[in-house]
Amino acid sequence: MNIKPADRLKHFPVYLFDALDQQKSEQEAKGVDVIDLSVGDPDRPTPKYVVETLREAVLNPDNHHYPSFKGLPAFRKAVAQWYKSQYGVDLDPNTEVMSVIGSKAGMSGLPLALLNPGETVLVPDPCYPAYLPGIVTAGGEVHFMPLFESNDFLPDLNDVPEEVRRRAKLMILNFPSNPTASICTLDYFKEVVAFAQKYEIIVAHDAPYSEMIFDGNRQPSFLEAPGAKEVGIEFHSMSKTFNMSGWRCAFAVGNATVIGALGKLKSNLDMGIFEPIQHAAIAALTGSMDFTHEICRVYQGRRDVLLQGLARLGWKPRKNPATFFVWTPVPEPGTPSGEFATKVLQNAGVLITPGAGFGKGGEGYVRIALTVEEDRMHEVVDRLEKAGLTYV
Ligand SMILES: Cc1ncc(COP(=O)(O)O)c(C=O)c1O
Repeated sequence: MNIKPADRLKHFPVYLFDALDQQKSEQEAKGVDVIDLSVGDPDRPTPKYVVETLREAVLNPDNHHYPSFKGLPAFRKAVAQWYKSQYGVDLDPNTEVMSVIGSKAGMSGLPLALLNPGETVLVPDPCYPAYLPGIVTAGGEVHFMPLFESNDFLPDLNDVPEEVRRRAKLMILNFPSNPTASICTLDYFKEVVAFAQKYEIIVAHDAPYSEMIFDGNRQPSFLEAPGAKEVGIEFHSMSKTFNMSGWRCAFAVGNATVIGALGKLKSNLDMGIFEPIQHAAIAALTGSMDFTHEICRVYQGRRDVLLQGLARLGWKPRKNPATFFVWTPVPEPGTPSGEFATKVLQNAGVLITPGAGFGKGGEGYVRIALTVEEDRMHEVVDRLEKAGLTYV
């Protein structure tokens, strides 16, 4: 039988990290000890007390049933309390909080819940690639908002043409940003709210890195901006804040109508989060934030090793104020980022991500994840130097 997948799959790229995995396997098959700085996956374990909470909860058969798609009431209450303590934002746990199986699932489901075919979505370029397939599936049209270093990688709302503003239905934002690592101020969010109100555009702010922040910086929640809850929602995730990427646990908060629409979609398409995982997340959200502060110190230490090393080799890395990503210009002007990343892998055994994988606007940059310990980070710099990837 000739099985033909849906035509819409032709519009999906091969997922960026699948392609990188393939290159990595080829090197490993040749016996290379590849240092993988491509995927943004925390390398250290989930805190012990969170794992212990899961262990106890999993032994209780009451927790073995189909979970509610919205999340346990206690989970939603813990999220609301956490938002209050982190950002001073008030949320109604019944209508303004919902669990999602990762912010990736939330962000990719949202267009299906909000868009009619032909409606336009404003998307930063470069961006996390998982924003696009949901828009394609919903038949939406993308208008990219280019990000430039000269504007601190903030989407410039003034650059969105008037006729695009008028037909846009949804705007996606992401601070601290993957891949650019940029953060934004509350004033910027106030501008976004005014823009969204004027043109009736729903805002979805993806904020999984809001707590992964260095040098005393702070990333406000979108919902801190007055009026934000009238125009949009925010996603936050347990993945990075509590090293729980494999657990698939995140939440959407904010505008009750948007949360309701996403909930209707979810209740028909997927399920809630396994309840023992929700109990473990409650332990994390209601416990101290010391663990998160400690991992930030660790990432900051690794960042400084890498930045000093790269600067010594003549690269021009940008000091990332947040996230575990260094977003740095390709040090060989004119070399495409994919070609440069392949050269780094083949000559130094270090896997980094070509900026072009995050969109046209990412060309000219590479992203380096801070997901190995400091000693290994020193080794990365040594390997780059020995491979002649120096530009002094
Ligand atoms: C910007 C951004 N959003 C969402 C995700 C996925 O988060 P989650 O694990 O909650 O699905 C990632 C993961 O790398 C990310 O970088």
